[in-house]
Order: sequence, then structure tokens, then C-alpha cells
Amino acid sequence: MSGILNTKNLSMHFMGVKAVDDLTVSFPAGLATGLVGPNGCGKTTLFNLISGVYDPTAGEIFIRDKGFTRIKCTKLRDLKIARTFQDCRLISQLSVEDNIMLAISKTGTYDSILEVGTEDYEEFLDHILETISLSHKRHELAENLSYGQRKLLEIGRALASNADIYLLDEPFSGLFPEIVEKIKSIINDLKAKHKTIILVEHNIALIKEICDNVVVMDAGKLLKQGKAEEVFADEKVKHAYLGE
Ligand SMILES: Nc1ncnc2c1ncn2[C@@H]1O[C@H](COP(=O)(O)OP(=O)(O)OP(=O)(O)O)[C@@H](O)[C@H]1O
Ligand SMILES: [Mg+2]
Repeated sequence: MSGILNTKNLSMHFMGVKAVDDLTVSFPAGLATGLVGPNGCGKTTLFNLISGVYDPTAGEIFIRDKGFTRIKCTKLRDLKIARTFQDCRLISQLSVEDNIMLAISKTGTYDSILEVGTEDYEEFLDHILETISLSHKRHELAENLSYGQRKLLEIGRALASNADIYLLDEPFSGLFPEIVEKIKSIINDLKAKHKTIILVEHNIALIKEICDNVVVMDAGKLLKQGKAEEVFADEKVKHAYLGE
């Protein structure tokens, strides 16, 4: 196994739809890998399998060489994997800081008297709020945030779990340029800390700018994997994805 995260013959079939189809792929440790491919090619489904939202129809997921036929979502924290959702899954009736605290809390229940209110937590929370530029909104309910602020809070929750592997599902989509820059700088900080990043993004220029490697999926399968410049120069990729 060459990566920190690998899949072997991984499949997820929904009735007749082969969302992920016999996919064998590696994501190297400490690098940013762009995960690209046409709409509906299975990128989010792959994240859902790695993060335990779905149990695979077949195949295995290897995390640090340990094989799993399914991942329990309650074990993600122990596996040091964090993810964001394409459509933002915040708890709308909780404040910004409570949404982050839930991710910081070791038990995920937040109300443990042993966990909250300690200085460590407060410092870490302040640091995350500052990183995502939401310190001034800390007491605001998540439902009152703008779209861009919700995308930032999603990232804040991923940062709060202090993971080694970050699955980021279209974190830039629909954002104003200044928030795109903010998120780029957060990802660059993670890269500087040698975290493993898997970035789903349709904007190829952003992928080329941020990612060391690229994985291209097509109809649930691996089309091509390698260095960004090689992958995007490949005729199959140009044809299937870029429509050239
Ligand atoms: N829960 C589900 N039930 C049935 N079909 C599903 C389910 N989730 C995904 N699919 C189907 O699986 C395929 C892959 O979807 P997926 O969301 O993984 O694609 P994607 O690559 O993330 O697309 P996009 O770029 O549009 O976000 C699609 O045909 C989709 O309709
Ligand atoms: Mg998707």
C-alpha cells in the first residue's frame, strides 16, 4: 500500500447505479491530492464511504495499512480523519462556537463537565474562530450565517477535530474571491503541517495551484492518477473530463 489512505476494489452500488465501481486508488501521506471528475462520477460517494456514511457494497478501505470493509463514522476521530460536506452539515440551532465545540469535544457530546470550559479548549476554540474569521460571530446561530460563513464554519469544524487526513468536498464552490483566498490559506497551512488533504474541486486552476497529485474519476472508476501536469495533459482525461 503506497498511501496513508487506499481503496482496493471499492464499490458502492445504489440499485442499478454504480456510484463507485471497483475503485483501487492511493492517497499519499502529507500531500494534497485533487479528486476530480464530471458531476455524478462518485467523488462524494467515495468520501461517504471513507467517512462511514455508507457501507461499501464490496471492497476495502486501508487507513495507515489497516484494512476495513466498513468504517464506523463514530471512529473517524480516532482514525484522525475529518471531512467537510459539499452542502454544509452544520447544526443550525447551535451557535458558531458550539458547532466547533462539538467537533473539539472528545466525546462528541460537549456537555461533559470534564471536557468543556478548560483553558486548553478555550484557546483552541479562539484559534479556530480566528483562523476562519468568525470570532465576531461566535455567539450567532449557524442558521443566521451567510453562505460563505457557513462554508468557513464547515472548515472550522474539520480543523477542530485535529485530524491528519482532511476530506474537503468542494470547499470553494460559490464563494467570493476573498473567501476563496481565505480557504486557500487554511489549506496551505494544513499542507505546511504535512497533513494529508483530498480536495474535490471542479475548478482545475485551483486544483493545479493547490494539489501535488490528482485522481480523476469517471463513472465510479479511476481514470488516471498522478502529478497534476501529467494528468491534465493526458488525452483520456482531456476527452472524458475536459471535453477536448
Ligand atoms: N444515496 C444515493 N442513492 C442513490 N443514488 C445515489 C446516492 N448517492 C449518490 N448517488 C448516485 O451516485 C452517483 C455518484 O454521485 P456522487 O454524489 O458521488 O457524485 P459526485 O462526483 O460527487 O458529483 P458532483 O460533482 O455533482 O458533486 C450519481 O449518479 C448519484 O445520483
Ligand atoms: Mg459531490
